[in-house]
Amino acid sequence: MIDLRSDTFTRPGQAMRAVMATAIVGDDVFQEDPTIKELEEEVAGITGFESALYMPSGTMANQIAINLHTRPGDSVLIEAESHVFIYEAGAGPALSGIQFDCVGSADFTQWTAVAEASFRVDSLHSAPTSLIVVENTHNRHGGRVFPVSGLDRIRAFRRDRTGVALHCDGARIWNAAVALGQPVSGLLSGFDSASVCFSKGLGAPVGSALCGSREFIGRARKVRKRWGGGMRQAGIVAAGALYALRHHRERIVEDHQRGLMLGKLFRELCAEFPDQALDAKTPNPQTNMVYLQVRPELADPMVQSLAEAGVLVLPTGGGWIRAVTHLDIPADAMPKVASAFLTCIKEVSGFV
Ligand SMILES: Cc1ncc(COP(=O)(O)O)c(C=O)c1O
Repeated sequence: MIDLRSDTFTRPGQAMRAVMATAIVGDDVFQEDPTIKELEEEVAGITGFESALYMPSGTMANQIAINLHTRPGDSVLIEAESHVFIYEAGAGPALSGIQFDCVGSADFTQWTAVAEASFRVDSLHSAPTSLIVVENTHNRHGGRVFPVSGLDRIRAFRRDRTGVALHCDGARIWNAAVALGQPVSGLLSGFDSASVCFSKGLGAPVGSALCGSREFIGRARKVRKRWGGGMRQAGIVAAGALYALRHHRERIVEDHQRGLMLGKLFRELCAEFPDQALDAKTPNPQTNMVYLQVRPELADPMVQSLAEAGVLVLPTGGGWIRAVTHLDIPADAMPKVASAFLTCIKEVSGFV
């Protein structure tokens, strides 16, 4: 099976398993796990924050950031297709009592300008904006890198306002850094906090980190404990994350090359089968997440038929099908992917 559903489907290879098996561990709730400490220090250095905290998941890292930057009754300004809003099971309102102000933008590059207009100042009647969340790279926007000009603008916007924090959902910040050829720390400078994931493009089995000031991370440790995320000898899994951080960041460029191949394939399908394939969200993908839109009634048969041909993809609604390249998708898998898509689109054409 060629599994393109997500970059979370990677499995640890032998070298990663070997370092995990021999990791030195301790009780991390007592802050006595040397492997976790090593990981947290390395992550803080790479991201440019004072401190970092190992987390069981990206969702927990994002939600603890929201909890610490806001008070119940506040608004969080966020892009309408963001993971934090769409895929985190309503955690923002449920756990922190915030409301989301979701700002869509047809052209993702214009998001910052549109978002500024939705900012809510504090008044007797308002739910003031106390946090702005930016997702980089952006999952449902086809792995797009948040434009640097937009980042500059949002950083300046935040600087001019007191009591507003800026958080980056950087689950795939590694991909953004590779795509732009810039250091991760540069993309996160001016942010108050960031979540980064080891279990996506880096290919580790478990974990994320929340990054911020020393004081912020001290408070995050308390909330993580309160929410049941304190882990004991988790150095075993942190060792996999550390290995991934050291060995798998640069190779992400290969995932992006394969993403470009998929983008070309999807463009060709749209041109050749206009009645079936309607759109490619990112005709020239910048990173590893690529989408094809087929006629909505064809999405399920297409996914099914691709699975029968040995290629797994993910339907994400509205006829969109997502394919994500990663560590376990070698270059020689790409011709098989191309021929499976071609065969399957012809097969489902009969349903139109
Ligand atoms: C952009 C983004 N942020 C956050 C997450 C959450 O990560 P986790 O699944 O570890 O909770 C994901 C997961 O796919 C994601 O794509």
